[in-house]
Amino acid sequence: MTSQEIREKFLKYFKDRGHTIVPSSLLLPENDSSVLLTTAGMQQFKPYYTGEKDAVRDFGARQTVSVQKCFRTSDIDETGDQSHLTFFEMLGNFSFGGYFKKEAIEYAWKFITEEMKISSDRCYVSVFEGDGEVPEDSESITVWKELGIAGDKIQKRGREDNFWGPTGNEGPCGPTSEIYVDGVEIWNLVFNQYYCRPDKTLEPLKQNGIDTGMGLERLTMIVQDAPTIFETDLFLPIIQSIPHRDIENETRAVRIIADHARASAFLVADGVFPSNVGAGYILRRLLRRAIRYGKIMNFDKNFLIPLSEKVVEMYKKQYPELAAKREDILTVVQKEEEKFSGALEKGSKELEKILAEKSDKIISGDDAFKIYESYGFPMELTREIAAEKGFAVDESGWESAFKKHQEISRAGVEKKFGGHGVNEQTLKSEIHNSKEIKQIARLHTATHLLHQAIHDVLGHEAEVRQMGSDITPDRLRFDFSFPRRLTPEEMKKIENIVNEKITLDLPVYSAKMSKEDAIRMGARAFFKEKYPDEVNVYSIGDPDLSKAYSKELCGGPHIARTGEIGRFKIIKEESSSAGVRRMKAIVE
Ligand code: GLY
Repeated sequence: MTSQEIREKFLKYFKDRGHTIVPSSLLLPENDSSVLLTTAGMQQFKPYYTGEKDAVRDFGARQTVSVQKCFRTSDIDETGDQSHLTFFEMLGNFSFGGYFKKEAIEYAWKFITEEMKISSDRCYVSVFEGDGEVPEDSESITVWKELGIAGDKIQKRGREDNFWGPTGNEGPCGPTSEIYVDGVEIWNLVFNQYYCRPDKTLEPLKQNGIDTGMGLERLTMIVQDAPTIFETDLFLPIIQSIPHRDIENETRAVRIIADHARASAFLVADGVFPSNVGAGYILRRLLRRAIRYGKIMNFDKNFLIPLSEKVVEMYKKQYPELAAKREDILTVVQKEEEKFSGALEKGSKELEKILAEKSDKIISGDDAFKIYESYGFPMELTREIAAEKGFAVDESGWESAFKKHQEISRAGVEKKFGGHGVNEQTLKSEIHNSKEIKQIARLHTATHLLHQAIHDVLGHEAEVRQMGSDITPDRLRFDFSFPRRLTPEEMKKIENIVNEKITLDLPVYSAKMSKEDAIRMGARAFFKEKYPDEVNVYSIGDPDLSKAYSKELCGGPHIARTGEIGRFKIIKEESSSAGVRRMKAIVE
C-alpha cells in the first residue's frame, strides 16, 4: 500500500463515518500566537472544543478529519533514528461534543486491524492510570476489553505518557489512550475533557471532545514493513536523489539531510524565510545543519537543490503550495548554501584550532560566540560539533558573550533612533533586533525566577546548582543538578511560583558590589564562571538582598518589572546528563 493510499483510506474511512474532511492548516499558525509552528492537528480546531465556535455551522458536522502538516522542534536531536522527524504529516479525527471514548477507540482499532490489516498480535495499548486530580480511565479499559484486548496488553501509565495538551499556554487537554505496533507508538487518542487554564488548573469542558493524532510516516513504516520511516515511499525517493557515496556507512547523516530538506521545503512553502529569529531561525538551523552534513560527506556544491526539487515533485499533488513556491524554495536553499558554505569551511577550521588548543575540553563562551558571529554557525551546531569530539561549551560564558554583544547593538539602536536620516531598511531591521533583545531580556529575567522557584520546590531534597543556561529569542533552557526526574506536580508548582511572581509585577534592581558581599548575602552564582572582585547583582522584588525574592550575580540585560514577562510555561523537562536535569520554557 502506498502512503497516498493510506492518506486516502484514512480520510475516506472517517468521511464514511460522518466526518467532514478539512484541509491542513499552515505550518505558521494563523490565529494562535502561543506556538511558533503548528505541532498538532487539533490546533486549528481549538475554538471548537471550547464552544467558542460551532462545528456544525462551520463544517456541517460535529466531527472532522484531516491530514495536517506538523513541525516539532523538540524532535530535532532524535531525527535520524527509526521513527523521529522534524516535519511530519499527522492523520487525525476530531469530535466536538459528538462521539467520545467508545467510538474513538472502536474507530481507531478497526482502522488499524481491518483497513490497514495490521495483526492485533503486534499491538498493545496504553491508558491513563489516574492521579490525585484526574481519575483512572476505567471507561477506556472496558472498551479495549470489549474489543478483545487482553488485560496484559493494556498498560496503565501516568501524566507524562498518557495525558496530552494543551498546546501553548492554555486550552483543551485530557487523558489519552495510545496504540503501539511493534513497540512504536502509532496513534494517540486524546479525550478532551478539561480546559487547562494558564495557572495550570483543570476545569471540566462543557462538552467532551476527541482529538487523535497518528504520524503518517510511522504508520507507513508499519504497513510497508520498512525497518525505519526513511525506508518508506515518503523518503526513499529523496534519499535516492542524494549523490550516492557510501550511504550505508553514513546512514544517520543521510537521514538527517533528507528530513531537513523536506522540512525546509514545507516551511518555505508556508512563507518562512531564513532569519535569526523565530520560525526563520529554525529554518536556517535546519538548512545549515544539512549543509554541514553534506560537506562532511563531500557532497557536491548545491547538493540540496536536487533533493529540494525531488521533495516538490513528490509532494506537489497533495500540497500544491510546494509547486507554487518552487522557485522560492530553490532560491532559499541555494542562497543559504552560498552564504554558509565558505563560512562553514573557515569556521570549521577555526573550531578545529580551538579544539586542538583546549586540554580542558571546554569551549569558552567568547570562542563559541566568535564562531557564531563571524561564520554564522547556529549555536546548536557548534555544540553538536563540539560534542562529537567530546567537548562541551561553557554555556554561561556563551550567554554573557551574547549579552555583551546585544547590549552593544542595543546601544547602537538607541543612538540610531535618536539620530536623523536612518534609512528605512536599517530601521526595520533594527526594530526587529530590538524586539529580539527585549524578548531575550524577558526570558532572562524569567530564568532568574525559575532558578529560585526550583530551589523553593526542590532545594529541601538535594543540592540544586545551576549547570548551564541558554537563551534564544524563542525559549530559555536551564540545566541544574538534581538526581531524578521531576513529577508533574513539582513542575506545576515551579511554573505557578514563577507566574505568581510575574503577576505581582515585582521590580528588578541591579547593583554593583564586592563579590564577597554578594555571596555572603546569598546571591546565586554560576560556579563554573570566574567572576571579577566587583560584580553586578540583579535582585527581584527588593533592592535589599536580604528581602529580595531572587538575587544573582549577573551582567544582564533584564527587563524592569516582572510583569513584562507575560505568562511563563515549562515546555520540557528531561535529563541532560547524569545527575543534571534540563528544563525548557517559553514566555507568551
Ligand atoms: N493531538 C494529539 C497528538 O498530537 O498526539
